Amino acid sequence: MPTISKRGEQMPPSPIRKLVPFAETAKKKGTKVYHLNIGQPDIETPKPVLDAVRHSEFKVLEYSHSAGNESYRRKLVTYYERFGIKLNHQQIIVTTGGSEAILFAFMACLDAGDEVLVPEPFYANYNGFAVEAGINVRTITANIESGFALPAMDAFEKAITPRTRAIMICNPNNPTGYLYSKKELSVLKELCLKHNLYLFSDEAYREFCYTGEHFSAMNLEGLEDHVILMDTISKRYSACGGRIGALVTKNQAVLDAVMKFAQARLSPPSFAQIAGEAAVDLPLDYFDGIKAEYQSRRDILVKMLNDIPGVFCPNPGGAFYAIARLPIDNADKFCQWLLESFSHEQQTVMLAPATGFYATTGLGTNEVRLAYVLNKDDIRNAMICLAKALEVYPGRVALKEEILEKGN
Ligand SMILES: Cc1ncc(COP(=O)(O)O)c(C=O)c1O
Repeated sequence: MPTISKRGEQMPPSPIRKLVPFAETAKKKGTKVYHLNIGQPDIETPKPVLDAVRHSEFKVLEYSHSAGNESYRRKLVTYYERFGIKLNHQQIIVTTGGSEAILFAFMACLDAGDEVLVPEPFYANYNGFAVEAGINVRTITANIESGFALPAMDAFEKAITPRTRAIMICNPNNPTGYLYSKKELSVLKELCLKHNLYLFSDEAYREFCYTGEHFSAMNLEGLEDHVILMDTISKRYSACGGRIGALVTKNQAVLDAVMKFAQARLSPPSFAQIAGEAAVDLPLDYFDGIKAEYQSRRDILVKMLNDIPGVFCPNPGGAFYAIARLPIDNADKFCQWLLESFSHEQQTVMLAPATGFYATTGLGTNEVRLAYVLNKDDIRNAMICLAKALEVYPGRVALKEEILEKGN
């Protein structure tokens, strides 16, 4: 039998989806599973966005321009203007989801064997895109005590090698929820200028910031030729299935190279570009309600987590994720056990083990990522389940107070 490629072997499975078969078995047994493992928002896609597609009149469902419909790109120019990002439509290439923008940036800016530096924990699919592009992800560890703030400049300096070509951030961050400040971005600017690196900025969750204003890497003055923005409508408008994103940069050479990749895959999806264009016309207060909803879910989740003995969860500043440290021996085992062997009143909770978001072996073994994409009642019920589960989990690690009590 022919063998599969090394690349095929190296391609990592998704840490977010690998427990799905266990969730399916739990559901077959009649257990309700609260899905906090995946960032699939339950918020409805705005009606005007869906209506624009419903009322579109195609005679032929043809390819669009490889960079995306010009009318959509011009509309996006007005969207970015709201954040002080001044562009022309030729600096935007519409992609098949933010995923393709990440892949295009890796392929257009790095050679095989080059390195991209990423603070860990990080969005696990960067690993997959790196394997596809033949590049290496190197990490600098952020810690839970600081809420996963940007590691010190020294740590970056130490990790930079002759093969390093880019630093990548996700702001606000998936999986930590950390919102990078303008000051932290200025540190990255200095590093990128000093070492002649690209700054890849994944801003999929730009609208969802709770503890401060979002500062886009595109607004870093003097770094215009280094910054590549990866964007998506997936989370912004609850339109994950539309598969529309964008790669944005002022670097003409990168745009020219990315266009060749864009031409090879012909075009981004046609229907969803119509949806994306209509979305830019939503009233500006559209996000107020959505943001308030996510923020109140975050408040419930973080409070209930920190009320559980032995659990620590820093308060995320944005996106809709949190990482919590639990009193457990092994997050992968625990998350599987929740689905396979535990239920409370016929309910359980599905979480993503944080190990998959770290590149450094051994990190994240007592951490999980939770996505607060369920309604508040479901989040409360899920947290009750988690608290009950931690009381009976066989691999529970004793807390300091318990050890002291035993000693007495
Ligand atoms: C940080 C981040 N970047 C990119 C993506 C990919 O988004 P898309 O659905 O647009 O491909 C996601 C999806 O979860 C994400 O969380």
